[in-house]
Amino acid sequence: MTVLVIGGSGFLGTELIRQTARAGHAAVATYATRPGTASHAAWYPLDLRDPGRVDAVMAEVGADLVVNASSATPTGR
Ligand SMILES: NC(=O)c1ccc[n+]([C@@H]2O[C@H](COP(=O)([O-])OP(=O)(O)OC[C@H]3O[C@@H](n4cnc5c(N)ncnc54)[C@H](OP(=O)(O)O)[C@@H]3O)[C@@H](O)[C@H]2O)c1
Repeated sequence: MTVLVIGGSGFLGTELIRQTARAGHAAVATYATRPGTASHAAWYPLDLRDPGRVDAVMAEVGADLVVNASSATPTGR
């Protein structure tokens, strides 16, 4: 299973990537400003305020499960 962790560079996202890898699943993660430190994830830049970019990442990754662990809000960061 491929798990896409949005906001994978953050505190919560880092732990979710760790748990995903530990469970034997593939982790793909996003960051807004800089990639996280987890080496067992493939990293994509993503700002949730950019709908086109969201569509592109979703299509490219084709994840089985998507977890939004970002701190993004509808009105900004
Ligand atoms: N930490 C906790 O104990 C805790 C407890 C309960 C609930 N939560 C909730 O869980 C969420 C994450 O918390 P956290 O502590 O992990 O926060 P965090 O460490 O600040 O991480 C936030 C993540 O969101 C990304 N991000 C910020 N703005 C974004 C945007 N516009 N588009 C896409 N990604 C964006 C950041 O990317 P960059 O780092 O690259 O900028 C980072 O990966 C928050 O909603 C928080 O309220 C956290």
